[in-house]
Amino acid sequence: MTVVLPEFGEAPERSRGRNVRAGYQRGRGLRSGDLVSQLHQDKLYNKAMKLARKRTIVAEPKRLNLYLILRFGFEGLAPGHIVEFGSYRGGNALFMAAVCRELHPGMQVYAFDTFEGMPATDPQRDAHRAGDFKDAGYEELLQLIEKEKIDNLHLVRGLFEDTAEAALKAISSVRLNHIDCDIYSAVKYSYNVSEKYMVDGGYWVFDDPLCSGCIGAMEAVEETLIQRDGRFAEQVYPHLVYRNWPPN
Ligand SMILES: C[S@@+](CC[C@H](N)C(=O)[O-])C[C@H]1O[C@@H](n2cnc3c(N)ncnc32)[C@H](O)[C@@H]1O
Repeated sequence: MTVVLPEFGEAPERSRGRNVRAGYQRGRGLRSGDLVSQLHQDKLYNKAMKLARKRTIVAEPKRLNLYLILRFGFEGLAPGHIVEFGSYRGGNALFMAAVCRELHPGMQVYAFDTFEGMPATDPQRDAHRAGDFKDAGYEELLQLIEKEKIDNLHLVRGLFEDTAEAALKAISSVRLNHIDCDIYSAVKYSYNVSEKYMVDGGYWVFDDPLCSGCIGAMEAVEETLIQRDGRFAEQVYPHLVYRNWPPN
């Protein structure tokens, strides 16, 4: 099934470090018009969803947007892989791996998590508490990956702060970093640690900052991407999307 993004006006392909036209096409397309119903009839989206359905808490519009990025957003970018900081029961990582297996052979998906729940959180900033999401079911997830032969999905188990530096060095280049770890320290760390591995125009997609229970995640984005690095968002619905281009 062909999926067609809506047209959007005159905006240049690149300004202020983002492609605002692509952001409008995806964001407005998912809000109105028939893009969602096109995607609901899309064979690959539905096939990948079968694996993810019972294992992810990522809201559907966000997963649809990730699908649009995977399908339409990589043209012209240097080769690179996908990382997810915060994978819990692995559903969204399985989804992205299943899509990439068909659209981008060779592209790998790396899912970072303790798979034992949240580490200590900061009560001044975060609503989540240590141990939230502890029912990740790591062994069961490994078995599913093996059974379904999803050999482009790799679980990186442990605190990001202990695993990410070395793992990213081996991964070496990243096209898409899905940051879905809810709390201030983890969101800030996963953006900072990934920065030097992102390809030009690579995507940071933040699941949480606009959620009512994740003010700490918003604070991390405000401090790093907005205040320190002066970046401008490419998309604000259904989640925040930033690109790795110089903002000026
Ligand atoms: C909202 S869940 C992720 C949801 C998942 N993407 C999905 O598809 O349903 C957030 C996850 O972030 C993980 N997390 C948060 N901070 C972490 C850290 N510093 N190191 C490792 N994992 C962390 C938690 O263990 C939790 O599983």
